[in-house]
This record gives sequence, C-alpha cells and structure tokens, in this order.
Amino acid sequence: QKITIIGVPMDLGQMRRGVDMGPSVIRYAGVVERLEALGYEVEDRGDIQIGRPSRLDVKNDQNLKDLDVVVKANQMLADEVMDIVSEGAFPLILGGDHSIAIGSLAGTAKDKENLGVIWYDAHGDLNTGETSPSGNIHGMPLAASIGLGHENLTSIGGFSPKVKPENIVIIGARSLDEGERILIKERGIHVYTMHEIDRLGMSKVMEEAAEIVTKNTDGVHLSLDLDALDPNDAPGVGTPVIGGPTYRETHLAMEILAEKNIITSAEFVEVNPILDVKNQTAEAAVALIGSLFGEKLL
Ligand code: ARG
Ligand code: MN
Ligand code: MN
Ligand code: MN
Repeated sequence: QKITIIGVPMDLGQMRRGVDMGPSVIRYAGVVERLEALGYEVEDRGDIQIGRPSRLDVKNDQNLKDLDVVVKANQMLADEVMDIVSEGAFPLILGGDHSIAIGSLAGTAKDKENLGVIWYDAHGDLNTGETSPSGNIHGMPLAASIGLGHENLTSIGGFSPKVKPENIVIIGARSLDEGERILIKERGIHVYTMHEIDRLGMSKVMEEAAEIVTKNTDGVHLSLDLDALDPNDAPGVGTPVIGGPTYRETHLAMEILAEKNIITSAEFVEVNPILDVKNQTAEAAVALIGSLFGEKLL
C-alpha cells in the first residue's frame, strides 16, 4: 500500500511557538526512510502553507485565538487529505499543533458513513470557545469534529459532524477541563484514563478500544498527540502532563493496532523541537509510526 505524507506546520492553535517545526523534525528523524524500509511506497507531498498573521494570539470575542488562520489551514488540509484518500493512499499527517485534526478528520470522514477515531492524548480536546480556559484551538478539535463550537470550525470540509461521539475512544487522558468532563458524560464518549490503563494494562485497553472503534464503522483514524506519552519519554511538547503511558506502552498500543490492521489514516501532532531534548520526541514519533505500520524486531 501507498502512504502519502502531508506536513502541517501549524503553531497558531496554542501559545508556544516552535511546534510549526514538527513536520521538519519528524522528517529529519527519518520517517520516509523508516516506512520505505518496511516496503511501502511513500510519497511526501510537503507542507500545507500556513499564513502568518502580523499579530499572533489575537483572541476574538468568542474566546478563539487566531481563528481565521486556523480555519484556512484546516480547509486546505481537508482538501489535500480528500485527494489522498481518493487516490487510495493512506494519509499520514504530521503536525503541527492538534488544531489540525479538524482538517484531518474532515478529509478522512468525507466519504465514510461512520469513521472511528482513536484519540491518544493526555487531553480531551473537547473544549469550545465557551468552555475553553485558554482560547487555544488545539484544545477544541474533537469538539469541533462532533459538531460543537464555532461554525467556522465545525463547517470545515463542508459537512458536520465528522464523527459520532460513540465512535470515539480517548486513550491516556489525565487532564480534562470541567466542560470536557460534562461533555464526555453527556455524549457517551469512551475514555480510557490513566486509571484504566494502570488497572487493565495497555494490552487490554487496546483490545477494547479496537472493538469499539470498529463496531459499525468503515474506517478508523488514529490521532496521536505526543503529549499523551509521559513527559520523561516525550519532553518536546507544549502542554506536558506528568504520569502518562511510557514509550514502551505506546509502542505496544501501536503494535496492537498494526496486528489488527484497522487504521485507515493517522496523524502525529504536537512535536515541538524548541522544547525537546535532542530530538527525542520526534524520534519517538518516528519509532511509533514504524510500529503502527508493522515494524517488528524479528
Ligand atoms: N485543555 C487545555 C485547553 O483547552 C489544554 C489542551 C491541550 N491540547 C493539546 N492538543 N495539547 O487549553
Ligand atoms: Mn491527486
Ligand atoms: Mn494533548
Ligand atoms: Mn491533543
């Protein structure tokens, strides 16, 4: 199968500059070579062009920072991903901050009845302008994708919602805002917090998650925020939260997804080289991508 890579150098969904270099450092860590070594045909389409406003972090009256630039980039990404899907290739999206998941999901959900989503993240990213403590759009993509929040965000790709709450599984959560907790309960979104991971083990969690996202779905998108990992293993992220799954546990999660062969699109986001230690987080991303695509030692 062919894998098509698209980079999204977006850093306007949050406050810490530098995450726009994520696609570059993931490439530098050898993502193309890694996938080619596994026998895949790989096309790297380069980066989406993000406009640079003259002033950054401008909040609008609805508590949304840099809304227009984020919307425009996501619309371009959605179009690009739709094109990749229509060619029959696997879209592999490199962030950039997590606000780009809106465009990824718009592109991948476009011609699917029911898309399943695995959201591997320390956070829920289920805020709207009303509930967000920060106004940062990278805390809102999952809400936007189920049709909640500002209409310019929910309407990206020309349809809404992209996914149904019951087809979403969040894994690794350990930082949720009040509005997100309420939403999770109201909408019945499946969440494996660190408590469940500790209690059941990653293996069981992934078995259950795989079952949920494949029930009545015709594709599964993996959205992996590197801040899901424990900051000891992935220090180069803008919103680290202690007490996450390890590098090893996350590899296991990717290996189980590879075995089950259920993922139809994926994105790796929030790698910020300015905050990183010797490109460790980008290298972790590439190693995890290897496992996701079937890399094995023996
Ligand atoms: N919940 C916080 C907020 O909404 C943090 C979000 C972090 N999101 C992320 N993709 N790293 O501002
Ligand atoms: Mn084409
Ligand atoms: Mn996160
Ligand atoms: Mn996130």
